[in-house]
Amino acid sequence: MSDLKKMRSQRWLANEDFRTFNHRSRVMQMGYDKKDWEGKPVIAILNNWSDFNPCHMHFKHRVEEVKRGVLQAGGFPLELPTVSLGENLIKPSALLYRNMLAMEVEEMIRAFPVDGVILMGGCDKTTPAMLLGATSADLPTIFIPAGPMLRGNWAGKTLGSGSDAFKYWDDKRAGIISSTEWEDILSGIARSPGTCMTMGTASTMTSIAEALGMTMPGAASIPAVDAAHQRMCTQAGRRVVEMVVEDLRPSAIQTRNAFLNAITVAMSVGCSTNAIIHVIAQARRAGQDISLEDFDELSRKVPVLANIRPNGTSHYLMEDFYYAGGLPGLMSRLKPFLHLDEKTVSGMTLGETLEGVQVYNDDVIRPLDKPIYTEGALAVLRGNLAPDGCVIKPSAMSQEFLVHRGPAMVFDDYPTLKAALDDEDLDITADHVIVLRNAGPKGGPGMPEWGMVPIPQKLVKQGVRDMLRISDARMSGTSYGACVLHVAPEAYVGGNLALLRNGDIISMDVPARQINIEISDQELARRREEWVAPAPRYGRGYGWMYSEHITQANEGCDFDFLKTSFGETAGEPDIF
Ligand code: FES
Repeated sequence: MSDLKKMRSQRWLANEDFRTFNHRSRVMQMGYDKKDWEGKPVIAILNNWSDFNPCHMHFKHRVEEVKRGVLQAGGFPLELPTVSLGENLIKPSALLYRNMLAMEVEEMIRAFPVDGVILMGGCDKTTPAMLLGATSADLPTIFIPAGPMLRGNWAGKTLGSGSDAFKYWDDKRAGIISSTEWEDILSGIARSPGTCMTMGTASTMTSIAEALGMTMPGAASIPAVDAAHQRMCTQAGRRVVEMVVEDLRPSAIQTRNAFLNAITVAMSVGCSTNAIIHVIAQARRAGQDISLEDFDELSRKVPVLANIRPNGTSHYLMEDFYYAGGLPGLMSRLKPFLHLDEKTVSGMTLGETLEGVQVYNDDVIRPLDKPIYTEGALAVLRGNLAPDGCVIKPSAMSQEFLVHRGPAMVFDDYPTLKAALDDEDLDITADHVIVLRNAGPKGGPGMPEWGMVPIPQKLVKQGVRDMLRISDARMSGTSYGACVLHVAPEAYVGGNLALLRNGDIISMDVPARQINIEISDQELARRREEWVAPAPRYGRGYGWMYSEHITQANEGCDFDFLKTSFGETAGEPDIF
């Protein structure tokens, strides 16, 4: 229980001296008086709203519900806009800016008179970015997920974000649908505020935030436009004030077991491959040792129960998941795999939040004995192609490629790849392995979501819909296909991927967790001597700092100077 007289904000607002004169007079400039703040926790509401981020468009107004809750509980709410990483409009990649938002969140919490924090995010990189920053700042914090948008709709058919764009684009390329139909799909696939409504990166990351204990119970699955979302926002506003009184901080919630819960849930929802990068980064900020091995170990045990696209064979989306019981329903089925004693922001343990929870549709949230995939969603592969690991999503690919051997067709950049794959005379078969390199953390830069390399036009017309593809890029969580991603070390820094040549035979064995180039160590060493490092992508600015300090995918792509063990990170300098 904290002593409210010692709240951080008191340093700015409590003393009747000259130093605080300016602070207090400027708060009064906004129309507040002493009664608004005296003895009350200041709650910063970090609102990730912008006109460049359609997933968060409701946050502009939804923030009022949060403020209502804070006021009801006796807090003083102040809204703080942040950089908003709208996944679909940002180039070259939102991941390039994840750490920038994380730094902004951490430093703004530290710089202002803040006692408790509400984070409003949800679009892919905003959830991990805001949680990374708040983890390092370590003040009482609740994350409010934006919530998924409503199901898409076209000609009586359900449309899923990303997944159906990919599907119908291939149909358009194959001449199965017309340009007019394609335009109609365009206007029907995103028809309300909220995040992508497949189990893509957004819903994966908000589900992870809930499983970690950082959201109000059930928050991750509530559709953005449902009135329950408004009520959840108000509840979070009330609760964060109590958390300040209780001094309940992320460091007390984000234990190693809480991260294992998060990975378990991620596996069972058929998570986006992006989850690996973000969870490793966040665990390292929290001082917890989480690695690729934890993902692979849990993936071998935890079944995929959420029958939501792009996993499974149904057309179920996040809206269906919510009506079926949402994440609490799924976690109630996962109890044998979860550490139920972990604390959550609600003040209850995870187990307590799941008491009385039910599942209302066994086809959407499968029972443990009827999973849609018996093992977890992701597999971590190693071998001479990826000595530091790479990932694949067995639950969302043609199972015939789980074991595959074929000749490599290698591309050094995306424009060249795209032009070649559109060429109907390309000399390629469905057994080939298409490789895209120089698309990793430094090379991309920012690991663009190019990993679901398009199937060559010629093969699409022959009905081919999956092939083995390999890259050091990422792919959208809404993607489908036999795509090996996050190859580490990346080609741009001289990983073995850089040494691969057209026609080299690649062998992959997912059950054995192996991926190799069938050439000798001597040949690899010979090629390495010939390899010339590419010129740096940036000479100045944020891009330069990013390139100098970004870590590889298996380390979470955080900046090396932001990890918990870097220099002095405990507390904050109390000199101003
Ligand atoms: Fe924002 Fe998909 S683009 S969640």
